[in-house]
Amino acid sequence: MFTHNLTIICVLGTLAGPALAQEGARTVAALPETLEETGERAPAEVPQSSAEEVGDIVPANTAYGVGQPASEDEIAAIDIDVMPDGRGLPEGSGTYAEGEKLYETICATCHGADMMGVSELGAPQLIGGRGTLASDQPVKTVESYWPYASTFFDYTHRAMPMTEAGSLSADEVYAISAYVLGKAGITGSEAATTLDAESMAKIVMPNADGFVADPRPDIGE
Ligand code: HEC
Repeated sequence: MFTHNLTIICVLGTLAGPALAQEGARTVAALPETLEETGERAPAEVPQSSAEEVGDIVPANTAYGVGQPASEDEIAAIDIDVMPDGRGLPEGSGTYAEGEKLYETICATCHGADMMGVSELGAPQLIGGRGTLASDQPVKTVESYWPYASTFFDYTHRAMPMTEAGSLSADEVYAISAYVLGKAGITGSEAATTLDAESMAKIVMPNADGFVADPRPDIGE
């Protein structure tokens, strides 16, 4: 019976074709008081949005009265993404020596003083493994795998330390980057080696050429 009705609706839909599509205001059938099959009370009327047209929807004005547009400050606080070419890197700088102190205080408990990771904590090895990716035992680290140094900045700034994500200043992240990338032999390991937006964007990572372009046409450049 149910299937039969559906078939009729489908046939009608096909016959009526596009003429029916989107014409006039949408109407909603009245709800029955009880559900035919079980005799249960029908659900209360579905609340309708107060918006009359798409684009009118301002959350604070809806029937629910929740939410509000994000302010510029709120957006700026989470607009911290850094692109592979360095776009989005903030002002500031930090040195290898500053990074060493910060790393030892903030990161070493989880990633190890030697940066070899602490597997019981799930904190990965950060350096080493260069040249192992195509072997039977690939060791994926920032040094061996990540194609862009800016990703280290973005990720650390956004997500580390695990227990206090977002707590590091731009200067601190530059310093920690200088220390970790220095230890990895990617940038210099003199105490005064400094990273900032300009130098960070110029770093060529060991595995930069280890990726192939995505051939799907909708992904593009
Ligand atoms: C409380 C433990 C903890 C602390 C402290 C911590 N991390 Fe992590 N870190 C983790 C865990 C766990 C992961 C894995 C997260 C995942 O895979 O989602 C991780 C992942 C990372 C990664 C990604 C590595 C990869 O190959 O995917 C980087 C880079 C990193 N941490 C850097 C840092 C730096 C730099 C600091 C210090 C500022 C830091 N972490 C402090 C626990 C920690």
